[in-house]
Amino acid sequence: MAPAAPASATKCSSGIVISVLLPLALLMAAAGTSSAQLSTGFYSSSCPGVYDAVKSVVQSAVASEQRMGASIVRLFFHDCFVQGCDASLLLDDTPSFQGEKMANPNNGSVRGFEVIDAVKSAVEKVCPGVVSCADILAIAARDSVVILGGPTWDVKVGRRDSTTASFSGANNNIPPPTSGLANLTSLFAAQGLSQKDMVALSGAHTIGQARCTNFRAHVYNDTNIDGSFARTRQSGCPRSSGSSGDNNLAPLDLQTPTVFENNYYKNLVCKKGLLHSDQELFNGGATDALVQSYASGQSEFFSDFVTGMVKMGDITPLTGSGGQIRKNCRRVN
Ligand code: HEM
Ligand SMILES: *[C@@H]1O[C@H](CO)[C@@H](O)[C@H](O)[C@H]1NC(C)=O
Ligand SMILES: *[C@@H]1O[C@H](CO)[C@@H](O)[C@H](O)[C@H]1NC(C)=O
Ligand SMILES: *[C@@H]1O[C@H](CO)[C@@H](O)[C@H](O)[C@H]1NC(C)=O
Repeated sequence: MAPAAPASATKCSSGIVISVLLPLALLMAAAGTSSAQLSTGFYSSSCPGVYDAVKSVVQSAVASEQRMGASIVRLFFHDCFVQGCDASLLLDDTPSFQGEKMANPNNGSVRGFEVIDAVKSAVEKVCPGVVSCADILAIAARDSVVILGGPTWDVKVGRRDSTTASFSGANNNIPPPTSGLANLTSLFAAQGLSQKDMVALSGAHTIGQARCTNFRAHVYNDTNIDGSFARTRQSGCPRSSGSSGDNNLAPLDLQTPTVFENNYYKNLVCKKGLLHSDQELFNGGATDALVQSYASGQSEFFSDFVTGMVKMGDITPLTGSGGQIRKNCRRVN
């Protein structure tokens, strides 16, 4: 059971008048909609054992370190936003190949590759050469959410793995934590995801950790932040950058960073979002009403989060004879 939220986290939500209508229409980019060939039954005869194999490895990884569930969910997001969900993120750099791992949003930050390797090994034992690394990531992300207490869903599969990666795509497509609402919205729209999808998917920040370098400016310089929360986070994050404190961690959800629930939105309503980009979702703009709604209705959040994850998983997959089924997720065959 999750511990009860401190009283201060619920009191602050009173007195907020919902006066902003949900945005009815959003310009949607045409990109990222080729999902016709993914299906939930893709491995039902070729590898029915894939689900148990993935789950058991993810389960033990999360049991030994709960944060790993969050790290795996983030890997899926950072994969899908760069040339689609094709496991491009998993490719290691070589002297002749620049992958995505050293790009700004990923360098020193994304983690969990060893767990994905272990999942891949387990899956290869059950059905060698059948299941893509891209699908393994999609299934492992779902399992991570479920293990930490979140909703479940049927994962569409049938993706194949890329033979390429994009360092510049990782730098340009994945939103930085300095982003404002308009930029967040447009970076998601560029992937065919709506503003509502963006707000719901951001709820993944109810689990996991962030480094001081990513929240320093918000806790020292922004004004749309609860004062006592800001001081608490300042104490673990030295003001000057370049110091050893850059990598100090703080939980994205101050109460329960290993439990997947709607606390993220409750925090935003209380001005206790850790990242500048988090608080942008509740800062007097068009998404305030939706944040308020998720803060008071966990089932609505869960339902929209699942919709968002399925849509994100549909971003330009390689299917049919495109790409390959990698033997090792870290390199092309
Ligand atoms: C809306 C735009 C988003 C921005 C600007 C953003 C930014 C960030 C940043 C800066 C961190 C901390 C990284 C670090 O300090 O090392 C982080 C962590 C995380 N993000 Fe996001 N993110 C966004 C959306 C998402 C989405 C859509 C998901 C998944 C559906 C996600 C899942 C996570 C998770 C689970 C963590 C914690 C990872 C861990 O503890 O290893 N984020 N994000
Ligand atoms: C990745 O991070 C390391 C350690 O901070 C740094 O030395 C390196 O220059 C970074 N790489 C890129 C490509 O930015
Ligand atoms: C936001 O978008 C504007 C206009 O496209 C751009 O100039 C700016 O650099 C972006 N800022 C961030 C933090 O992405
Ligand atoms: C806060 O803002 C000032 C003025 O823009 C800047 O010089 C300073 O580096 C910022 N501090 C942090 C911790 O971001």
